[in-house]
Amino acid sequence: MLKGKCAIITGAARGIGKAIALKLASLGVNIVLNYRSSEEEAQKVAAQIEDMGVEVLTVKGDISKLEEAQNIMTKAKEKFEIIDIIVNNAGITKDTLLLRMKEEDFDNIIDVNLKGVFNCLKSITPIMVKQKHGKIINISSVVGVVGNAGQVNYAASKAGVIGMTKSLAKELGGRGINVNAVAPGFIETDMTSTLGDKVKEEAKKSIPLKRFGTPEDVADVVAFLASESSSYITGQVINIDGGMVM
Ligand code: NAI
Repeated sequence: MLKGKCAIITGAARGIGKAIALKLASLGVNIVLNYRSSEEEAQKVAAQIEDMGVEVLTVKGDISKLEEAQNIMTKAKEKFEIIDIIVNNAGITKDTLLLRMKEEDFDNIIDVNLKGVFNCLKSITPIMVKQKHGKIINISSVVGVVGNAGQVNYAASKAGVIGMTKSLAKELGGRGINVNAVAPGFIETDMTSTLGDKVKEEAKKSIPLKRFGTPEDVADVVAFLASESSSYITGQVINIDGGMVM
């Protein structure tokens, strides 16, 4: 059902973004792969995607800057004309307790995780409205739903993404555009690899399915939200967390 469509994925050189790009490519979707600085990693993923027989465009760009986000969308439209799907995946963490959190630790996270999603939505929405169809999928986090000590900045940004998702779903529902979010729990990527073994063991105990998630677990749900199988779903946040939050 997704064959021949086009998807933009931000921050797709590694981790969850990479898994989403590979999953959609395996379903026949042409991919616009955004990366911020890791050119070599991005080119490797692009080569894997090409091997699957679909087209790929890599675009360097820092989504926290509006003009760079706009450039991603412009380049994508120039090559593929129709943009069916966007996955706002790029994100960062800078964890510490509020008592120690510096103003810039808060600002940096908001600039990328919240303003960055706004920048991409602001740039893609006119294109999708004109086409009269589109699927927008934002990557939030369960931390944006239930909070987490040491992540005041990150939780605020991810809760903001949920608010943005629901508001935009209401704005675009009549225009043939679905806007949804996924809220992953603990997914094994570079982002979580720096956490200590003790923290990881404690986290695992709170997961009913007794394992951490994989980037592919997230990619499967994103592929569903990108497909016509989810055409009557909008404004929702789907937790992908092994039951950690329910
Ligand atoms: P990751 O750190 O492996 O990958 C994030 C990617 O985003 C990197 O390639 C990075 O270069 C890119 N990126 C960062 N800032 C950017 C910017 N300004 N412009 C363009 N690209 C930028 O992290 P992971 O784990 O793959 O996370 C992906 C998304 O999933 C993030 O939004 C994260 O917050 C979210 N998430 C991750 C969870 C986890 O347990 N790993 C849990 C819940 C949500």
